[in-house]
This record gives sequence, C-alpha cells and structure tokens, in this order.
Amino acid sequence: MKDFLAVGDYSPEALQEMLDLAVELKKERQSGGNKPVLEGKTLAMIFQKPSLRTRVSFDMGMRQLGGDAIYLSPAEIGLGKRESVADVARVVSGYVEGIMARVFDHAHVVELAEYASVPVINGLSDYNHPCQALADAFTIYEEYGTLKDINVSYVGDGNNVAVSLMQICAKLGANFTIGNPEGFDMPAAAIEEGQKFAAESGSTITMVTDPLEAVKDADAIYTDVWTSMGQEEEAAKRAAVFPPYQVNQELVAAAKDKTIVLHCLPAHRGDEITDKVADGPHSRLFPQAHNRMHAQKALLVKLMA
Ligand code: CP
Ligand code: NVA
Repeated sequence: MKDFLAVGDYSPEALQEMLDLAVELKKERQSGGNKPVLEGKTLAMIFQKPSLRTRVSFDMGMRQLGGDAIYLSPAEIGLGKRESVADVARVVSGYVEGIMARVFDHAHVVELAEYASVPVINGLSDYNHPCQALADAFTIYEEYGTLKDINVSYVGDGNNVAVSLMQICAKLGANFTIGNPEGFDMPAAAIEEGQKFAAESGSTITMVTDPLEAVKDADAIYTDVWTSMGQEEEAAKRAAVFPPYQVNQELVAAAKDKTIVLHCLPAHRGDEITDKVADGPHSRLFPQAHNRMHAQKALLVKLMA
C-alpha cells in the first residue's frame, strides 16, 4: 500500500501490525527515544482546514523518527484553486518523501494520491478521518488489550470521524453502534462497506436513534462535534437537533460501569460533552489525543521507512 486514505483499504492484519508497532514506538519513545529510521526524509503537511492535533502530532512524530516536516497553511497552496491538485501532487513529490493532506473534498486527497509518486496520508476529509481511527483503535487496544468483541458506541453526528471509527471497529472485530438523530446518518456507501468488514470479522454494526439505547453495554462511548469544519452554516439547525445526544453523566451511567469515554477533539464542552464527563474518571480524551502521535508514527514508519 503506497497511501493511507481510508481504513477500509487495509487488511485487519495490516491494521493490527500498525497498532503493535505503535505500542513498540511509544515504549521506545518513553524509554530514551526512537531510532532515526526516517533520517533524511521529510513529510509535507498540506492543510485546507485548521488543526492542532494533526499538525503537531505529525510534525513531532517525524522529528522523533529523525525526519522533518513542512507545514503548508490553507492560504499557501490554494489546492485546486491556485494550482490543480494533480500539479501540486507532481511538484511536491519531487521535494519530499511523503505528503499528509487535510482537505474539504475527499476526492482531492484521492487525486493527490493518484498523481503523487510518494505516499499520501489522509489527515481528514469531509468523508473520513483514518488517522484519528488508528489512534482511537490504539487507545482501545491499550485499555482492553484487544478490539475483538469490544462494544464501541458512537453518539452524535454520522460524520467523517464516525465513518472511520466504524470501519476500524468492523475490521478489528469490535461491535460498533451509532446513535444519531434521523437525517444525520453516516453515508450509505460507508455503512455498506462497514457491514462487509463486520461480516468478515464476525462483529456487528447497529444503528439506532436513541442515545441511551446506543450506549447500553458500551465498553467505550465516543462523541464528536455536532457541526464539523465546513458545515458552519448549518450550526444553528444542528444545535437545535443534537442536545439529546450530549454525552453527560446520565448517558455514561447507562453504559458498562468501566466504560471509557473518547472524543477526537476539539470538544465543544457543554454541547456534545459535559466538563464533568470530559474531565471525569471515564475520560480517556487526552491519552487518546497523545496517541495520535504514537499511532501515526507507526503509519509513517510503514509508509516511509
Ligand atoms: N482530532 C483532530 O484531528 O484534531 P485537529 O483538528 O486539531 O487536528
Ligand atoms: N468532525 C470534525 C472532526 C475534527 C477533528 C470535523 O470534521 O470538523
């Protein structure tokens, strides 16, 4: 595999290998430092949208592996506007050994990969967020030692984060339940693909509209913002629909006693998650955010070393 555009492009074995490598790299980092396996290599980071975690975790991940990273802000490239996506891919490929891109239109990251001669990593599109899913699976793996038969319940919008989370759960044998309001489902094609992966791994995908029903028996509750980047004009409409899907203490109490709570961040505290839950004993929000770096380092090694 040259690129990392979607979790679904990878086999369960390849994903599991990546999680195991993330465990190793994290341990290595915490006990003195990583080997410079990416020495002399540079990752170009193309952003059409803001970012904290993706930008810093990729940048630091490259440095810790002996490599380098270049940040290209939304204003700089004008992807598809100042210059065609294909030309950007062809030009940047001559300078660096890998490209990470955060885009609006998923087709643009696919096109970058088609025309780039170096690996392309999807750092979030309107359709999915596979690097997030890798870190999410890693966080669940650290907590439970496996994803097999773990119940992961996502509550909220059927968005890019939900799609990739569903896919990695289905690939690795975790049961995925989503509780979302009517009209805010994940895209039908993503659900169909997820169901195929779930059938292969022997796990289940369940879709409900009742948030309490969604989190029943959950080992992990997951939520994300109600309005994603690029949907700002829908914010008021969404704010009227989503409050029953807030992850609060009452919702957490409806899951298994030891359930963990995850959120890709940034969080809109008081909307999709309360302070009490985000900062409470079930929360794994910050280890999860830190795991972005460890999981992505495994990905960078697999694609660029
Ligand atoms: N979770 C995530 O991708 O965060 P950023 O938008 O800050 O990169
Ligand atoms: N669904 C959110 C995730 C941000 C990391 C968005 O796309 O804005």
